[in-house]
Amino acid sequence: MTALGKLLRTTAFRLTLVYLMVFALFAAFLLGYFALNTRRLITEQITGTVDAEITGLSEQYNQNGLRRLVVIIDNRSRRPGSSLYLITTPTGEGLAGNVGSLEPGILDKPGWFETAYRRLEETEGPEHHALVRVFQLAGGFRLLVGRDLEERERMFEIIATAGRWSVAIVIVLGVAGGVFVSRRVLNRVDAMTGTTQTIMAGDLSGRLPVAGTGDELDRLASNLNAMLERIESLMRGLKEVSDNVAHDLKTPLTRLRNRCEEALRVAKNDADYRAALEATIEESEGLIRTFDALLMIARAESGEARDGMIEFDAAEIARDVSELYEPLADDKGLSLHLEAPLSAPVKGNRELVSQALANLVDNAIKYSSSNSPSVNGTPLDIIVSAASEGDRILLSVRDKGPGIPEGQRSRVIERFVRLEQSRSKPGSGLGLSLAAAVARLHGGELRLEDNDPGLKAVITLPRADPVQGAA
Ligand SMILES: Nc1ncnc2c1ncn2[C@@H]1O[C@H](COP(=O)(O)OP(=O)(O)OP(=O)(O)O)[C@@H](O)[C@H]1O
Ligand SMILES: [Mg+2]
Repeated sequence: MTALGKLLRTTAFRLTLVYLMVFALFAAFLLGYFALNTRRLITEQITGTVDAEITGLSEQYNQNGLRRLVVIIDNRSRRPGSSLYLITTPTGEGLAGNVGSLEPGILDKPGWFETAYRRLEETEGPEHHALVRVFQLAGGFRLLVGRDLEERERMFEIIATAGRWSVAIVIVLGVAGGVFVSRRVLNRVDAMTGTTQTIMAGDLSGRLPVAGTGDELDRLASNLNAMLERIESLMRGLKEVSDNVAHDLKTPLTRLRNRCEEALRVAKNDADYRAALEATIEESEGLIRTFDALLMIARAESGEARDGMIEFDAAEIARDVSELYEPLADDKGLSLHLEAPLSAPVKGNRELVSQALANLVDNAIKYSSSNSPSVNGTPLDIIVSAASEGDRILLSVRDKGPGIPEGQRSRVIERFVRLEQSRSKPGSGLGLSLAAAVARLHGGELRLEDNDPGLKAVITLPRADPVQGAA
């Protein structure tokens, strides 16, 4: 499309044309009305003065007779100006006045007429136009008084010309304004189109230009930019996760393959093969656990787990998880306590909440057992609790282990992040990610706090029945 074609097709230009038409019509109507009214006013003024003059003259005639009237008419006829006078006998012979010729028949009957005429002193040249009144005097004499209409026509012409010019100027200025405005809009839209093309070509960092005028295009651009920002951060997150997944699964898979190769190379008897196979199975189970954890996080994050949420007692979950982990804690020389005196109703996904709490307990056991197992002979405590606080249910696990430095607490929640100090322990760095995702799924959060010493990990969940909870 040509540049002009594009310009003419813009909404701004079309709108300008519509407004222009409306405005031009309005201006024409207004000036036409003005011109016609001016003409009417002048006509009214003429008839008013002519009427007054005729009344005066006919009084003169009645009081002082024809001779006196002829003298007056003769006098007035000599004055310069647009006034016309004529007095005739009943047979139509002129007695006095400044009118030379009229359209035929004008003098035959009394009344108002618009007529062409010539002045007495003019014998040739174009005829003029006049508005005249013919009056019948007593005795059959006729009196004609009128005004030349040249002035009225000139006035009308001036206004009509002004009207034509102003409509023409309105149209020219309007079209120029329309082109100007459309060009500006078009330039901005073109700039936006350019940016969207680079974005479509794969460069997500492009942003639409914002002029800073706060108009509708600016608002649109800012909203689209915010959307692009969100898309970009999601894409970045996705890329990070897939990079992490690729990286973190590659190591155990390589290890698995190396182990098999080694077995093939060095195993001498059935016992060696069996040992290698067992190690392989163990390694594979670790991998499966990692996959399961990733899938569970994905499930919690997608919100798909929101269907089929049921009401259950979080205190019961705390009890079950404690029971499950007690033997393991005992083995490691730790004592695990439960604090869940009241019921804690929560609406949610029971399986996911159990897994999240289990992950926290698993961490507490795994990481605090590396410290000396007891202080003055008493085992270090791990406390699992379910409590209610306002309209929230808090599921927490406290340990006396090394804790997590404050600066690292937001980082360890990310997928596959493990602290340097815990590299010696098995794990894939997904436990806290799942706990956080589950908390978010239920509209709560995962908080990591200082237990002084140790770590206090809290999952907050909304209470299922706040009213009953208050009672
Ligand atoms: N109770 C704790 N005390 C000290 N450090 C902890 C504790 N819980 C978690 N951490 C630190 O946070 C990191 C992330 O924990 P997370 O549970 O996500 O992964 P993981 O325990 O390493 O592996 P996974 O839970 O997937 O088996 C751990 O590697 C550890 O460094
Ligand atoms: Mg863990």
